[in-house]
Amino acid sequence: MKKNINVALIGYKFMGKAHSHAYRDVSLFFDTEITPVMKVICGRHDIPLSIAQEKFGWQERTTDWKKIVKRDDIDLVDITTPPDEHKNIAIESAKTGKFVFCEKPLSKTLKEAYEMLEAVEKYNVKHAICFNYRKLPAVGLAKKLIEEGKIGKIYHVRAVYLQDWILDPEFPLVWRLQKKIAGSGAHGDLNAHLIDMTRYLVGEFSEVIGLSETFIKERPKLIEKDDLNTGLVVTEKSEEKGKVDVDDATIFLARFANGAIGSFEATRFAPGRKNGQRWEINGSKGSIVFNLERLNELEYYSVDDPACVQGFRTIIATDGSHPYAANWWPAGHIIGYGDSFVNMVADILQAIAQNKMPTPNFVDGVKCQEVLQAVEDSIKQKKWVKVKSRV
Ligand SMILES: NC(=O)c1ccc[n+]([C@@H]2O[C@H](COP(=O)([O-])OP(=O)(O)OC[C@H]3O[C@@H](n4cnc5c(N)ncnc54)[C@H](O)[C@@H]3O)[C@@H](O)[C@H]2O)c1
Repeated sequence: MKKNINVALIGYKFMGKAHSHAYRDVSLFFDTEITPVMKVICGRHDIPLSIAQEKFGWQERTTDWKKIVKRDDIDLVDITTPPDEHKNIAIESAKTGKFVFCEKPLSKTLKEAYEMLEAVEKYNVKHAICFNYRKLPAVGLAKKLIEEGKIGKIYHVRAVYLQDWILDPEFPLVWRLQKKIAGSGAHGDLNAHLIDMTRYLVGEFSEVIGLSETFIKERPKLIEKDDLNTGLVVTEKSEEKGKVDVDDATIFLARFANGAIGSFEATRFAPGRKNGQRWEINGSKGSIVFNLERLNELEYYSVDDPACVQGFRTIIATDGSHPYAANWWPAGHIIGYGDSFVNMVADILQAIAQNKMPTPNFVDGVKCQEVLQAVEDSIKQKKWVKVKSRV
């Protein structure tokens, strides 16, 4: 028999919309035993929140997340706020027995990430982190090829995550450029995805050495104002400048426990690259290549192909045999960025139905943050740093 779970979503902007899309559409594509009920959405400002509530389809709204965690009728709390709020919301939700689903990075510091993991373990609640790119069919295919030994022994991973949205020095000091809110810049935002993907496909990091730069040191501050005509909260640039205290770009090298080596680069200063996550993995028997801007495709090269036809083939991962694809459209009818969140929520619902811990979860969030921290330590110390894991 179908069961419902009541969901509360904190945050209603970029990820708030992506997660709402997932709850709305998951039952259209997946025959889950559990159906999410979009019970309550939370944000700081009531008028824009009320617009989001109506547009996304949530039953209720509130501007105070503390009211949500106290409610007995909420089963799952989904955190899509900036990282500075993750810890408090996650811990308070765990205390009242809720399933906690949190956006990446798990928190703004490794210390906070450990506290979050301790809380979900102490209060014995299930948890998940939104490394949604794991849930793309092409990535699932990459995982399958590696597990089946098609790539052989892995030698290299080469991963970049390139964006260009803060190239203009007059672009304002948004929360993503403030350490007290975001924790770090391109590193925690973009390298976090690369690190998780690499842990998933290649294995655990053993040591790292990094380099980072903040190209634009000061930017116009932002002022939030209530627009008296519309009631909406609007932001405008101030004459005053504030210090950018996070990295614009972070590059690092890594060694892995299985002997592989890797290079990683995250930047917000690559003109023309909008959301350019690309990676290539090379092994003794072949290579695989992924480019997020062509997210349905996986390139694969096999040394076992006859010499006369050897070359990279491009697999469109939309066939029913590819992970998740059977739930979507007929072969060749591609899916999009937002659909990775639908797959993610489908896996969470399945785990709840089977009383299992979903993956990726807070352990993955902590392990990712341990690598992020080791890279930051190596930058400060100007030397290789071992990735020590407490979990
Ligand atoms: N998985 C992904 O691919 C992906 C992509 C983008 C962002 N993210 C992550 O998602 C998180 C949010 O990013 P975003 O781009 O959605 O940010 P955003 O600025 O678009 O939205 C943040 C939301 O949080 C709300 N908020 C902030 N403080 C709050 C509080 N105290 N109480 C209630 N609501 C509060 C804001 O009102 C807003 O609705 C970050 O951790 C970010 O790293 C993940």
